[in-house]
Amino acid sequence: MLLEQQNTTTTYQLGDGLCLRFATVDDVEPLAQFNGRIHGDDGFNPFVAQATREFTSPAHPYIGPDNVTLVEDSRTKQIVSSMCLIPQTWTYDGVPFEVGRPEVVGTDPAFRRRGLVRAQFELLHAASERAGHLAQAITGIPWYYRQFGYEYALDLSGGRWVYPELIAPPPADEVEAYRFRAMTIADIPLAMQLYELACARSLIACRRPGWWWQRMLTEVSPNSADYRHFVIVETPDGQPRGYVAYSLDFGGTEFPIPELNIIAGEPLRAVLPPLSRWLKAIAEPEMRQRGKPSFVLSFKVGAQHPAFEAAPDLFHKVRRPYGWYVRVTDVPRFLNDIAPVLEERLARSGLAGYSGAIAVTEYVRGFRIAIERGKISTEAYAPDEDVNAWFPPLTFLQLLFGRRSFEELDDAYPDCFASAQVEPVLKVLFPKRFSNVLPLG
Ligand SMILES: CC(C)(COP(=O)(O)OP(=O)(O)OC[C@H]1O[C@@H](n2cnc3c(N)ncnc32)[C@H](O)[C@@H]1OP(=O)(O)O)[C@@H](O)C(=O)NCCC(=O)NCCS
Repeated sequence: MLLEQQNTTTTYQLGDGLCLRFATVDDVEPLAQFNGRIHGDDGFNPFVAQATREFTSPAHPYIGPDNVTLVEDSRTKQIVSSMCLIPQTWTYDGVPFEVGRPEVVGTDPAFRRRGLVRAQFELLHAASERAGHLAQAITGIPWYYRQFGYEYALDLSGGRWVYPELIAPPPADEVEAYRFRAMTIADIPLAMQLYELACARSLIACRRPGWWWQRMLTEVSPNSADYRHFVIVETPDGQPRGYVAYSLDFGGTEFPIPELNIIAGEPLRAVLPPLSRWLKAIAEPEMRQRGKPSFVLSFKVGAQHPAFEAAPDLFHKVRRPYGWYVRVTDVPRFLNDIAPVLEERLARSGLAGYSGAIAVTEYVRGFRIAIERGKISTEAYAPDEDVNAWFPPLTFLQLLFGRRSFEELDDAYPDCFASAQVEPVLKVLFPKRFSNVLPLG
């Protein structure tokens, strides 16, 4: 496909009467219907349809039609494939970087396996790079997105289950120690503070400005896939102690609780029983209505969480994380942007003041991390005989984003290794670190 004169009004002919283009305001409702149909597990998904109405609208603050592509059959004027890109800012140990998040990827069954999604990725990747995004990240079906340059480089959700049948009843004749109410805009400062603290525990995190909270509480439709029910946890006399979020956009039998942030010092062991009872009371009728009387409360709050530390016995099963697919085409640029973090790691280690070079080959590309008395700079590098660290294609991203340690990669891939001199430097620069990224949707 020719992308030279790319702008959001260009139409690309893909052959067979199929045209690829960015969406316009006229596409909002047809696209809502298309996405609702394609992304409905058991029929039409009204949550995805409503999210599409909102994100394709020119009024959307960060997506809008210019970030939505579609393929139209010019003979029937029907939309046959579509996806979107959600721009957002993530942080790497506090250092911001821009990300484009492809989402709502779907093709009509009659038009699948003709490269329609591949063509849209080409367009949106180019748009993402032009917008200055250093990475793209997507949550999605197994293996598929590897074809477009992505690697499973970050944990995605994970957490623990609570079986409703095992939740203790409330103590007789006692008022619950906590009560729950919908979050309001007056609670935003507390929510932001607690969210920031949660981000500080996560190597990679997504920024949520104040306007995001305001919009979530006042503008996003509760019928949208992007909506979260934010609930304040407070004492019986109305003192806010934290917040929890649940979502009603789910399939299967896991009732999702993607966020739980309680102020430091509040006894989590005391919060969890009333919270579980309250969530069970919310989930039960919802699940009954969906014909799923047997369900679990799924605290999808990441593989690590203060609640799991405080009260492991109040959770009944570990839910292992899936993975974010991440794509970084310019690894040297990314490493240069986060150099202050890497320099700090080095300075705090036994390798403080180190000088040397890590010449990395990923077999299909390479880069050289030059370290001069602890100052780090990286440039692209055509791998040659001076290489001293070897990673099979894209696996370096698992190390960069802290998902796997160097030892784990070395164990998993026979073609991953490093010289005795640089192995300790790699370990200091890229330690394994927990992440739980809650993206902008
Ligand atoms: C998955 C889906 C989006 C693929 O759309 P598509 O238009 O058929 O995709 P493309 O033809 O552009 O796929 C690119 C390549 O992947 C292949 N491919 C398509 N579907 C695939 C699948 N499910 N698994 C593996 N490979 C697949 C194609 O053959 C093509 O290969 P090629 O470029 O070597 O010829 C489509 O099947 C769909 O809408 N599924 C239901 C909704 C869904 O699951 N969306 C993804 C949510 S994360």
